[in-house]
Amino acid sequence: MKILTVVGARPNFMKAGPIIAAINEHNGTLLVHSAKRPRQPVETIRHVLVHTGQHYDELMSGSFFKDLNLPKPDVHLGVGPGSHAVQTAEIMKKFEEVLLGEKPDVVVVVGDVNSTLACALVTSKIYFDSDGSRPVIAHVEAGLRSFDRSMPEEINRILTDHVSDLLFVTEESGFQNLRNEGVSPDKIHFVGNTMIDSLLNFKEKAEKSTVLERLALVGQAGKNGGANSVSGYALLTLHRPSNVDNRAVLLNILGGLEELATDCPVVFPVHPRTQGRIREFGIEFDPGAGAPEHKGDLRVSGNCRGGIILTDPLGYLDFLCLMKHATLVVTDSGGIQEETTILGVPCITVRENTERPVTVESGTNTIAGTKADTIKDAIRRQLGRKRGSGVPKNWDGRAGARIIDVLVRRHYERFCSRPSLIAHAPLRTDVPADNPIDA
Ligand code: UD1
Repeated sequence: MKILTVVGARPNFMKAGPIIAAINEHNGTLLVHSAKRPRQPVETIRHVLVHTGQHYDELMSGSFFKDLNLPKPDVHLGVGPGSHAVQTAEIMKKFEEVLLGEKPDVVVVVGDVNSTLACALVTSKIYFDSDGSRPVIAHVEAGLRSFDRSMPEEINRILTDHVSDLLFVTEESGFQNLRNEGVSPDKIHFVGNTMIDSLLNFKEKAEKSTVLERLALVGQAGKNGGANSVSGYALLTLHRPSNVDNRAVLLNILGGLEELATDCPVVFPVHPRTQGRIREFGIEFDPGAGAPEHKGDLRVSGNCRGGIILTDPLGYLDFLCLMKHATLVVTDSGGIQEETTILGVPCITVRENTERPVTVESGTNTIAGTKADTIKDAIRRQLGRKRGSGVPKNWDGRAGARIIDVLVRRHYERFCSRPSLIAHAPLRTDVPADNPIDA
């Protein structure tokens, strides 16, 4: 079986890593199995990693490959920036050639970025021979809905789901949304969350990050007075076009953080889109007393006590370390709502909605809107909250393994008429990909 996995933008890398790890685990088990029974045929999974180049520089892409131990992409499409139409079209044109050359059995797409939709759409219309055969399309993180069609990601999610053959959902809402849209339950598998697989796998390694020292957040007298204790700080990320592309909206959100920045430093790793807007709008920031010298070329000024510490986008391990030790996280990202849920860190989402309701129902997330007053209220409430939260179902570090189990089963059912061959694939019954409806 040949699986081709597509990555393109920053949030894809940590979602795809566990799938690649599960393929390696599967192949390793098969080889042990075949060493014991040398006469029986085995078919390992061949894997091709395609990077579209939607995100392309070291800060948004290269460092993630190192931090997550991802293999070098087999194919790099080098697409780069562009409008939605240009970027999507470029990826489609180049991906079609790759698909015709590689002829994989399965194409795995993850998340909701332009690369996800572009590659799913190309795969849905390709045919390798006159009988119309094409790869199975597997969408990882299917079914999430914000019900806000002004978000480009919502369009990408809906369209990708409806051209996919296998839908791997992270939470029960994903299953229900797909059923409400008429998707057959046979296609849907509630496997858990590969982004959380990565988090659980790399949490310990992230503790070795020196980011807290680099940002002067450690070594001062902390709340518990210890010499190496971490000072209280908040962590901020903003990158959604609806939040950062309009000066008044961006200023309103930053206004909501004024009080917080007076109480404690707010670390703000600034996404390239947001860096561009901050420069364009002439917005200035206060680093606060004692903050480390600011990197990059954003201007810093002002006079509040804690202040906002601007940095370039951080690598995966540095950011994970910062999230884990933060008093509070303020964000408009999708994935960070999930990661803070598992870390038990209070999270404030500066959006009007979330496509990840489980992070509010059983996690630490609260939806604050984008007005300064509602953000301030949410911050006050969240600061009074204890750390810790429930763990959503199947967010246990085995989502990648469940996905590979489903793909292997499906492949053997499709291509192996002799049932005895199925036994040669070591299916891991300890990781069932159940549907909540059957539970
Ligand atoms: C994209 C995704 C979004 C995801 C986000 C995470 C879509 C529609 N949006 O938004 O779902 O949450 O990534 O980051 O796919 N840039 C760089 N260096 C890079 C990458 C981008 O400087 O490595 C610049 C681009 O040139 C552009 C800006 O950052 O000016 C935004 O990049 P873009 O690819 O448009 O999407 P994001 O806003 O990052």
